[in-house]
Amino acid sequence: MIILLSGLSGAGKSTLSQHVKNQLAKVGIDTEIIDGDEYRAKICKDLSFSKADRIENIRRLGFIASKFSARNIVTIISAISPYDEARQELINLYNNVKIVHIDCPLNELIERDTKGLYKRALLPDEHPDKIRNLTGVNDQYEVPLKPDLYINTHQNSLPRCIHILTSFIVNNHYKPPRSHPETLIEIPS
Ligand SMILES: Nc1ncnc2c1ncn2[C@@H]1O[C@H](COP(=O)(O)OP(=O)(O)OP(=O)(O)O)[C@@H](O)[C@H]1O
Ligand SMILES: [Mg+2]
Repeated sequence: MIILLSGLSGAGKSTLSQHVKNQLAKVGIDTEIIDGDEYRAKICKDLSFSKADRIENIRRLGFIASKFSARNIVTIISAISPYDEARQELINLYNNVKIVHIDCPLNELIERDTKGLYKRALLPDEHPDKIRNLTGVNDQYEVPLKPDLYINTHQNSLPRCIHILTSFIVNNHYKPPRSHPETLIEIPS
């Protein structure tokens, strides 16, 4: 299963993925997190924040996710993924892709400002530190219209959000039947 956590910066995608991974480990479900920040620092560092490059970013993350997911590892992509086109492409290309909208009102995100990005995006136009392409402020975010799951991280506490996402994954995760020893090839002695 591929879980695409989509939402604005600071909404809680990375925080939730890490906590949910820990919860899933407790019930024996293996999880891989593909975090946009980590991949942008490595194999996606050639990409900008233009529309085409943001779509290409999700395309690459989706491809990697599909490899883990094919081994029945729950794979959580934690990336803003602002464009419906990119999200739809993953749904069309791969099995069992779930879109989860991690939502939080902009005024709360400005309050959290975990990376200081909102402060910089709201600077006057002539300021040299101004960011001109922060999703939700001065760059587009296409709200997922029919997400498989919606989580509002302002209305729900962190433990509650963790519980919602963990339960969703546990309920949708494919549990392979246990292999029986008699199905194994006999090794001649
Ligand atoms: N209910 C909640 N769920 C998730 N995070 C919450 C919640 N309430 C408060 N927070 C806080 O919001 C912040 C979310 O930051 P986080 O880095 O997870 O966002 P992000 O969506 O990964 O952003 P980015 O796209 O920039 O990577 C954290 O400081 C977290 O503690
Ligand atoms: Mg993050």
